[in-house]
Amino acid sequence: MSHTVTITDNKTGKQLECPVHEGTYGDPVIDTSALNKELGMFTIDPGFGITASCRSSITYLDGEKGILLHRGYPIEQLAGQSTYLEVCYLLLYGELPTETEYDQFRAELNERNMVHEHLERFYSGYRYDAHPMAMMIGVTGALSSYYHEAMDLDDPLDRDLTAKRIIAKMPIMAAHCYKHSVGHPFVYSRDDLAYVENFLNMMFSVPMRDYEPSAIAVKALDLMLILHADHEQNASTSTVRLAGSAEANPFACITAGIVTLWGRAHGGANEAVLNMLGEIGDIKNIPQFIARAKDKEDSFRLMGFGHRVYKNFDPRAIIIRKACHDLLEAVDTVDQPLLDIAMALEEIALKDDYFIERKLYPNVDFYSGIILKALGIPTSMYTVMFSLARSVGWISQWLEMMEDPDFRIGRPRQLYIGAEKRDYVPIDKR
Ligand code: SDX
Repeated sequence: MSHTVTITDNKTGKQLECPVHEGTYGDPVIDTSALNKELGMFTIDPGFGITASCRSSITYLDGEKGILLHRGYPIEQLAGQSTYLEVCYLLLYGELPTETEYDQFRAELNERNMVHEHLERFYSGYRYDAHPMAMMIGVTGALSSYYHEAMDLDDPLDRDLTAKRIIAKMPIMAAHCYKHSVGHPFVYSRDDLAYVENFLNMMFSVPMRDYEPSAIAVKALDLMLILHADHEQNASTSTVRLAGSAEANPFACITAGIVTLWGRAHGGANEAVLNMLGEIGDIKNIPQFIARAKDKEDSFRLMGFGHRVYKNFDPRAIIIRKACHDLLEAVDTVDQPLLDIAMALEEIALKDDYFIERKLYPNVDFYSGIILKALGIPTSMYTVMFSLARSVGWISQWLEMMEDPDFRIGRPRQLYIGAEKRDYVPIDKR
């Protein structure tokens, strides 16, 4: 017998049997698509907290158990044994690549690791101190002007080519944002360097000398990218899907994702964490900030704490917390005091009833900023780094949506609570 849920309207006595669909894991879903036709109603779920927008095979997360799987592989195993570029392949194609497949993938990315020379001119329109996320929005949006007419959204090969272009060009555009902000010449991508080494070289090499990153820095950044690669239907991914459902240019859809990620409640939190730790300044000031976070009259929230889904530890935070410690032990940095404040803040918050009752735990952003700072990446670049990592998640979810048999334009409804119908009154009669 198929599983259904009956909705009864106790005003009319009318009933509707709604099919229930089970996934591989996770809570089953109720298909309410017949609700309006049969009972003349909509559903409402502000913030889509319990609304499944799609069927997806890419990522599964369980907020209560702190589980995160990418194509079935636990994040802990990918963090410990894989690389960001291999995770890109996995997210895009659903399987871990063979050595031959991986080499072919890298070679195809290398064929696309240049941006049109004219793109450089977009950067010069920004002040040197423009926020790098504002620059990323501008240049990624501009990319849609180079790949528009020639791209056939209905051709799977063109869609795959778009994905490879995004993965190959995002690190270049991200590094250029930093170079523009420090007034250094832009550095070209290099085929002979692996993904993270290539990115760090584009960030930090100068004409007088190449940049030799330490192995631990490369490992820490690769880990940070893996941990931010995809995260189910979060706000920015949902934006990319909604823009993509209108069959917008995919580079413009990715730009919409960057715009959404910039929000401090979302990807902007890693930058906000470092600014908050800097504002706290000393462990003795922590109690007053905890009090502000609890004060309903104060809009201040503890950045890096809480999560829409994880109501237990964010598994990514556990992984990155250890990498944070390892890196700061190995890399002589002045940022130890910041980590000390972060550790003390975490300890105090996790013992405080307010946070315990609301299941507010450190999320991945609480630590990622400290790793980036230890790597010499400026705070203003943190959300750019997040958008770099997440670009593969966005484009993988976009590809999945474009191939979905249920593909249709997204169009939520509303509960209208505005004025009743009334007639226009000429201004001299008001
Ligand atoms: C990311 O969705 C994803 O997957 C996102 C992400 C990804 O990989 O894509 O994981 C990346 O965005 C991580 C989250 C980064 N954001 C922050 O660290 C910003 C600080 N966090 C909060 O803004 C907040 O926790 C959210 C936005 C993350 C979650 O908001 P919710 O689920 O809407 O939480 P809520 O507003 O329902 O909070 C429930 C209670 C409220 O108090 P009460 O009304 O019950 O008294 O907890 C309180 C909130 O005021 N609360 C906080 C808090 N977060 C929630 N109080 C103080 N500090 C906080 N950080």
